[in-house]
Amino acid sequence: MTQASSDQPMASETDLPASGPVQEVGEIFDVTRFGDYTQLTVVAPGVARAFQPGQFVAVAVGGSQTSMLLRRSFALYGVKPGSEFAGTIQFVVAVHGPGTGWLAAQRIGARLDLVGPLGVPFPIPREAVPAVLVGGGYGTAPLLPLAERLIALGSEVEMIVGASRAHRLFGELQAKRLIGKVTVTTDDGSAGQLGQVTDPLPSAIERLGAEIVYACGPMGMLAAVGEVARAHAIPAQVAVEEAMACGIGVCMTCVLPVRGGDGVSRFVRSCVEGPVFEAGRVRWADVGTLPADLHGADGMGVAR
Ligand SMILES: Cc1cc2nc3c(=O)[nH]c(=O)nc-3n(C[C@H](O)[C@H](O)[C@H](O)COP(=O)(O)OP(=O)(O)OC[C@H]3O[C@@H](n4cnc5c(N)ncnc54)[C@H](O)[C@@H]3O)c2cc1C
Ligand code: FES
Repeated sequence: MTQASSDQPMASETDLPASGPVQEVGEIFDVTRFGDYTQLTVVAPGVARAFQPGQFVAVAVGGSQTSMLLRRSFALYGVKPGSEFAGTIQFVVAVHGPGTGWLAAQRIGARLDLVGPLGVPFPIPREAVPAVLVGGGYGTAPLLPLAERLIALGSEVEMIVGASRAHRLFGELQAKRLIGKVTVTTDDGSAGQLGQVTDPLPSAIERLGAEIVYACGPMGMLAAVGEVARAHAIPAQVAVEEAMACGIGVCMTCVLPVRGGDGVSRFVRSCVEGPVFEAGRVRWADVGTLPADLHGADGMGVAR
């Protein structure tokens, strides 16, 4: 993988595989500001063609001379595989550090070096089932294409969109256009209901007779959503955002302690075995630690 440079060829429709991740250099087609966020629309036919809701793209940042070697990950939405511009993708950037700062300052016409789509997508039920989707901050982004997919399947869908404050909300208008039934919450009451996304979640599950919850947002929110789903005896499929270095499964930066079907807990790489997990399997309280009962922990120097 290389950093973007102006002499790299742009991908064309004819030289792309039909599925799986690709590396391609795409031109920024549109830049839109939403509150604290910058939405980038990028021409990327190879990424668009293979995309499934829940997957992400790893973007090279800083230009060809940069010391920022690691790509930055962004959840995908607004993917149009067959648009008149040969396939476009969207992702939203919240400025966090130097990499996201560089991306948010890019202009229309700039080229980005992308690898994607990466990761395991949200599982889609075989038949229509009522579903509640819960997004925190820019975590709403990957739920938008998921909502479209579920609605196309005939599922009844409600969405809860929350953030700390109004400027940190993302996607509530797109969600309202798609679904209609959208509840907005903010921690400070500056938009929608005062409170957290988990406050209206039980009544949404009960009103809809929901059989599944999907969520994306901060880890604490995902743990809390998983707990509400567990209390209603339904599964929650959640997209985590663990710090990633390589994004392709080789560095083990992004591991989470996850309980397997055999009851044994293992470190699982969220870039290739996630980012979507069944919430009930993630050991939320142990994220960022090396639990002594984890498979292989003794080999990593932890005594049981
Ligand atoms: C699957 C996924 C989807 C995401 N979707 C979005 C999105 O839609 N919008 C958005 O704004 N952000 C998203 N993020 C978060 C975004 O990737 C980070 O905010 C961004 O990487 C920060 O880069 P930075 O240079 O601005 O900040 P910095 O904090 O300076 O990050 C520097 C780099 O170090 C890496 N890093 C951080 N901690 C460690 C560590 N312990 N070990 C090794 N490397 C580390 C980071 O991943 C990053 O590559 C997503 C992250 C993931 C994993
Ligand atoms: S980020 Fe390197 S293994 Fe997941």
